[in-house]
Amino acid sequence: MSEKDHKVSRRQFLTYTLTGVGGFMAAGMIMPMARFALDPALKAGAESDSVYVCEVSELTEEPQKFPIVFNQVDAWYESEVSRDAYIYLDGDEIVALSPVCTHLGCTVTYGHNDKPDGFRCPCHFGLFEKDGTNVPGTPPQRPLDVYEVTVEDGKVYLGQINQRT
Ligand code: FES
Repeated sequence: MSEKDHKVSRRQFLTYTLTGVGGFMAAGMIMPMARFALDPALKAGAESDSVYVCEVSELTEEPQKFPIVFNQVDAWYESEVSRDAYIYLDGDEIVALSPVCTHLGCTVTYGHNDKPDGFRCPCHFGLFEKDGTNVPGTPPQRPLDVYEVTVEDGKVYLGQINQRT
């Protein structure tokens, strides 16, 4: 092979150099955009955390309404969200019900005159038993949702809401 075969022409040199520099600059612009787009999806388990609600000693056999305040991350927007839960003791078990009516989403209340030992929805007069079971013949077609409950050192924590059928 002669030395002439290895010579890089001025045109080739400029092509290689500009391609390399251009690629480097393009990566510098694309990487932050890719990170911005993917970052929330790569953060694991932020919304699966349990939230402290009350002490076990505060609970009775009658459902009581407790506020739940937690941080919600919605893609890039983080906000403080407040919800309620009706919590009561069923023997040794702690039951935490969502007050959102399973008919069309109004808020139920416990102990109304129409249903002193259960929940009543003001919107279409849906009724639920104390354990959240829907009363047949009223609009809701399924029971109230339940929160996952964990107890640590006498403190009650609520996790995600689960649907019952
Ligand atoms: S929203 Fe509760 S009964 Fe319709």
